[in-house]
Amino acid sequence: MIIQNTKAIMFDVYGTLFDVHSVIDECKKHFPEKGKSISEVWRKKQLEYSFLRGLMGNYRPFWSITKDALRFACKSENVELTGTIEEALLGSYLKLKPYGEAEGVLEKLKGHQLAVFSNGSEDMLHPLIEHYSLQTHFDYLISVNGIRQFKPQPSSYLYALEHLGVERHEVLFLSSNTWDIAGAKTFGFKVVWVNRSGDVMDEFGIQPDHIIGDLTGLLD
Ligand code: LAC
Repeated sequence: MIIQNTKAIMFDVYGTLFDVHSVIDECKKHFPEKGKSISEVWRKKQLEYSFLRGLMGNYRPFWSITKDALRFACKSENVELTGTIEEALLGSYLKLKPYGEAEGVLEKLKGHQLAVFSNGSEDMLHPLIEHYSLQTHFDYLISVNGIRQFKPQPSSYLYALEHLGVERHEVLFLSSNTWDIAGAKTFGFKVVWVNRSGDVMDEFGIQPDHIIGDLTGLLD
């Protein structure tokens, strides 16, 4: 079993437990032709801004970055983001759809030390997880906002590890994001890449310890 010799299982949130592109439905309501493109630019810029703010030493919480990325996405797609539409789209980010298998897998992992570890700030992470009452599955909901250093900075994984009281090689970290997998493995976690879209692993000279197509693979 992948989870053998594991003392804690830690999940990335956006893209791993929840589908960031479930905002497309709300985007299409306001911008029918541009829902998919806005969602894609939105996610791309959200990540890019977190990486660049980390490098330039100009940290802002992920919720603030998510708003900035949405504004960029709408400008670049030449649509008008009114206050009302911005509120509706950001509201949908607090209700992203969980992947269908997530709750069932979390249920089957009962008895294990489970945590989420996300770049998301608490003001977006908690409403989302609590909207689906998933918080009861986790011992910890850990946000990088506690240390103001984004993943994949090593200091962020160390901050998360310090909540768990185990050694880094005893942690199994799951993410759908290859940059997060590479960062976590470099830090010393065992890593499971949740490769939902059949993507190619990025060239960091790093191989995931396990690759699964969705979270049910964790139970193999
Ligand atoms: C997370 C996103 C950035 O940390 O993957 O949840």
